[in-house]
Amino acid sequence: EVWNPSGKYRVVSTKPMPGTRWIRLLTDQDCRVEICTEKKTILSVEDILSLIGNRCDGVIGQLTEDWGEVLFSALRRAGGKAFSNMAVGYNNVVVGAANKYGIAVGNTPGVLTETTAELAASLSLAASRRIVEADQFMRAGLYDGWLPHLFVGNLLKGQTVGVIGAGRIGSAYARMMIEGFKMNLIYYDLYQATRLEKFVTGMSLLAFSIYNCISGLVSSYGEFLKANGEQPVTWKRASSMEDVLREADVISLHPVLDKTTYHLINKERLAIMKKEAILVNASRGPVIDEAALVEHLKQNPMFRVGLDVFEDEPFMKPGLADMKNAVVVPHIASASKWTREGMATLAALNVLGKIKGYPIWSDPNR
Ligand code: DGY
Repeated sequence: EVWNPSGKYRVVSTKPMPGTRWIRLLTDQDCRVEICTEKKTILSVEDILSLIGNRCDGVIGQLTEDWGEVLFSALRRAGGKAFSNMAVGYNNVVVGAANKYGIAVGNTPGVLTETTAELAASLSLAASRRIVEADQFMRAGLYDGWLPHLFVGNLLKGQTVGVIGAGRIGSAYARMMIEGFKMNLIYYDLYQATRLEKFVTGMSLLAFSIYNCISGLVSSYGEFLKANGEQPVTWKRASSMEDVLREADVISLHPVLDKTTYHLINKERLAIMKKEAILVNASRGPVIDEAALVEHLKQNPMFRVGLDVFEDEPFMKPGLADMKNAVVVPHIASASKWTREGMATLAALNVLGKIKGYPIWSDPNR
């Protein structure tokens, strides 16, 4: 599919992307936009080489593609200046190879924060209240009346949510679980904890001002909550990831995938989690040793998992699909209309900015 065929700059998108704003943005700035409409879901390096061709100024690519030495050198030879992943994660991109050939790299942070956190929250709820199991039970025509034991799950309120990786998405997820479900929080961040700390500090300031407002009526914020039958929410930063795994009832993983986070959750770490814990992953599949997880799910039927991502996508490790205590969805965490259109627009801006000589909007090197 070609837009603005006479455009001066040739920009290739390896997939059709939602909305038309991103196309307009490029065509208005003298770009010829070529969109690959190949039916195959995952393009090979050879497929992308033929899309790049002899002349190409920039490419918008997808997280399913291997952007390394071969593609970046070809893009350079074709006169290319910029590449953007339509994703915040860029573990499929060898940034060093792009740097070597002078290709600027962009990703799409920000616009998917809330949407991804909402999916992690949805998986937490689906797993804790056994929604998918119950749905399948209904559709199978097995419901023959209310029973006291039917699909009994866990109450989130008052339980502890554990967040591993407290960046933008982990912090948004923590906020949803604290504010929405009155869960206590324990978190551990592998790199930094500033955003979550700012949020928690903000919460404390808010609590403090509420306290100031009501201090004439009751002697503390805690007492105020208790007077209303509520327990105040607590939060703490763990000094080790193991502390989170040991203490939390629901654990959500939000690290980036790199050498240090590959199989972060392995057999040994699964073993220290509570027998009835819920583990959620909407980051990257290889963060969990999926074969070890399947074994753990088999041995611990009360342990539940909500997975958006898998170790060898699009496949699941043998046995996972049969586990009733697993909720599985196909990497849809950022799949809201607003977010996907925003990701496409950001990716287009990244490429356009570089072609036109502006600094790239979101460069993972910065
Ligand atoms: C990302 O952006 O990295 C997600 O995995 C897809 O939205």
